[in-house]
Amino acid sequence: MILFDIDFCGPEDGPAIVDIDLRSNRNPWPLSSVMDDLRNRSGEIVYMGAFKKDALLGFIALERRKKLVWIMQLAVSPDWRRLGIGEQLLCSAYAVGEEWGCRGVGLTVRVSNSGARALYEKNGFVQGATLSGYYGDGEDGIRMQRNSLIP
Ligand SMILES: CC(C)(COP(=O)(O)OP(=O)(O)OC[C@H]1O[C@@H](n2cnc3c(N)ncnc32)[C@H](O)[C@@H]1OP(=O)(O)O)[C@@H](O)C(=O)NCCC(=O)NCCS
Repeated sequence: MILFDIDFCGPEDGPAIVDIDLRSNRNPWPLSSVMDDLRNRSGEIVYMGAFKKDALLGFIALERRKKLVWIMQLAVSPDWRRLGIGEQLLCSAYAVGEEWGCRGVGLTVRVSNSGARALYEKNGFVQGATLSGYYGDGEDGIRMQRNSLIP
């Protein structure tokens, strides 16, 4: 077991978020767009982070979409995977959703991303539509949704 804290990310976390994203995703976000999100004051986009002391181990980027919390991105630093951080970041999405008055959580995941799909299925997400050629490289996406915010 490892101990880490879950907290809101701020602009100071931008470079660490981009570093984890770069090492985790095929289409990482540029620092400029992450910084725009982190400076967004509307409250419609929130990044939650898993921190050990001051080091960021993983993050989840959330957007308010009416009654749904939308997971825009979720990534855990490669050195810190399979330690429960992804699940705890999902729990933080449920808590943010409660604050926003949402009823569920949704996302799109690559068909080939078996690890992430296993994480979501274990945590009560059900598979929805397949989105043909959804990603820039032509890979299909799968919609997944969890209609509860109770951890
Ligand atoms: C997907 C990801 C966020 C999971 O983070 P994590 O902190 O390793 O996940 P957890 O430790 O909380 O995993 C919880 C459970 O999910 C499942 N799971 C997670 N990763 C898995 C994998 N690679 N293969 C199979 N099952 C997996 C397991 O059931 C796991 O429980 P266990 O370790 O007791 O078997 C991480 O692998 C990652 O950053 N991947 C690259 C980015 C990515 O694919 N993001 C998702 C975009 S939709």
